[in-house]
Amino acid sequence: MDYLVSQVIAHGSAVREFQLRRKDGAALPGWQPGAHIVVQFTDADGGVLERHYSLVGPAGGGATDTYRIAVQREDDGKGGSRRLHDAYAAGSAIGIRGPFNSFPLDAAPGAGAAPGRVLLIAGGIGITPLVSMAHALGAAGRPFELHYLARSADRLVLLDELRAIPHIRLATHIADQNGRADLDALLGAYEAGDSLYSCGPAPLLQALADAGARNGWPAAALHFESFGARTQHGDGPLTVELALSAMTVEVEPGSSILAALLAVDAFVSYDCQRGECGKCYTPVLAGQPLHRDICLTPAMRATGMCTCVSWAAAPGRLVLEL
Ligand code: FES
Repeated sequence: MDYLVSQVIAHGSAVREFQLRRKDGAALPGWQPGAHIVVQFTDADGGVLERHYSLVGPAGGGATDTYRIAVQREDDGKGGSRRLHDAYAAGSAIGIRGPFNSFPLDAAPGAGAAPGRVLLIAGGIGITPLVSMAHALGAAGRPFELHYLARSADRLVLLDELRAIPHIRLATHIADQNGRADLDALLGAYEAGDSLYSCGPAPLLQALADAGARNGWPAAALHFESFGARTQHGDGPLTVELALSAMTVEVEPGSSILAALLAVDAFVSYDCQRGECGKCYTPVLAGQPLHRDICLTPAMRATGMCTCVSWAAAPGRLVLEL
């Protein structure tokens, strides 16, 4: 583990910002808006955990010596965020892979940029990748809207940093005070060149995709990064039959069909593993999928599924064209 936590800053009761540097003080690779790193740390038994966290702050196209991440404590999660909050402080050793960028800002500011509106919509801690996008848009002099949705006011973080960014129109939407945000109103009717970047839990992104479809937004103008488990209480075990290769795999709740397919060396494509890219799309010959992706069209869902996140209704049997 070649990195150190150099500073920890509390943002409200649930979010901590960790600033990370190399132990030898060397410069870190540059990164682009929307990028993330994979952080490696240890659990109480010494096992290595890996979690993806978006880089926060102005993106560094060139070398920089500090990365910032913001981690929300998830008491119902798998334990990674609790471990970071409880056991990692300034001076703790940590590992990093990356940066990687699976959520690039294509509405590139500056020369050649599309002329339409740029909307950033964050759900809760989904604000993190949008902060670097906001900095990039502000620095380029491109006006944009950032809608920050949260359950309660104490869940809003990094507001001072956001308010200081030029050209931002920042609006907060607090569900406890005003109910759910009207997503149709936030998006409005699509006009050529408009683009939306949103990060949040999958149900919010699905609702935005639905609102986009109602308001004429083409899928190419909607850019999503999701987080949070897609597993739901009540998911039962699955039996998945692979019709072309005459194999049967059992999938336990909490795992994914894709992971089970990879474990038996089934020939499958995949990329994001978050239901966003559609690369794991697989035709379904029998059984009733429970779709949890945010990328397939209704026509695609009628004939297949994303195996990385979706599940199946009782009695838990699927036949896939694999
Ligand atoms: S791997 Fe991207 S949607 Fe499944």
